[in-house]
Amino acid sequence: MQAITKTMIEEAASFIRRTTDVRPEIGLILGSGLGVLGEELEDAVTIPYEDIPHFPVSTVEGHAGELLIGQLQGRNVMLMRGRFHMYEGYEPERTALPVRVMKALGVDKLLVTNAAGGINLDFAAGNLMLISDHINLTGRNPLIGPNDNALGVRFPDMSEAYSRRLRGIAKETAKELGFELKEGVYVGLLGPNYETPAEIRMLRTLGADAVGMSTVSEVIVARHSGIEVLGISCISNAAAGILDQPLSHEEVVETTERVKEQFLSLVLSVLPKM
Ligand code: 6GU
Repeated sequence: MQAITKTMIEEAASFIRRTTDVRPEIGLILGSGLGVLGEELEDAVTIPYEDIPHFPVSTVEGHAGELLIGQLQGRNVMLMRGRFHMYEGYEPERTALPVRVMKALGVDKLLVTNAAGGINLDFAAGNLMLISDHINLTGRNPLIGPNDNALGVRFPDMSEAYSRRLRGIAKETAKELGFELKEGVYVGLLGPNYETPAEIRMLRTLGADAVGMSTVSEVIVARHSGIEVLGISCISNAAAGILDQPLSHEEVVETTERVKEQFLSLVLSVLPKM
């Protein structure tokens, strides 16, 4: 295990600065199957993760593993197609390194997306859910270790992890577009197995509406860095024990593929107002 240092963050950031004149202000992290948004960027430079100093390389199918910097709806964005998960064996602070690098490059707003299992019985596969809050049940935390006060405070406030302002914009935009936008609590687990039906019943009792294996470490680091966060989950499947059928990554990718038009138009309409 190697801790993330300011030097590593700065080396990754200066490598990226050398590839483009675009100075990003909004970061986007795209989950499984949601990478299509990358195709909408104008004047984009594409950098494979393996070229960036200290970046891990994502190992999951359906996660491309490249960073794009360019313009989207007139905003300068840095977009991650594919992310790092703790179940791949990365330390939590490493899964969130891109967020530190975003901050170093000037990003102050972050849109995180993911594919998640629906726990709330009112949710169906294909629904989009605005993340109102999260529960970190990964048992891990990216802020463990000595705190660098230059990056953020020792005990960051999480009472508004997902910005009320940005949630308002997302809801208003969905309404204008005539989309149904669910809203709920995302619970982050370590994975990589999907949950058992008993675990899903427990999570429902705990107040979770959707479950996934990403996002929480990135959002913790974003809040530590003072970045404002908007989170959107694509409910890719019902969680275990709800329908009488097994869960698979194929279903997750198929569903995100099916809702990509709606996802795209929501994100593209939200961006200019962020
Ligand atoms: Cl049901 N569980 C978890 N942990 N992650 C998921 C999922 C379920 N569906 C999509 N991603």
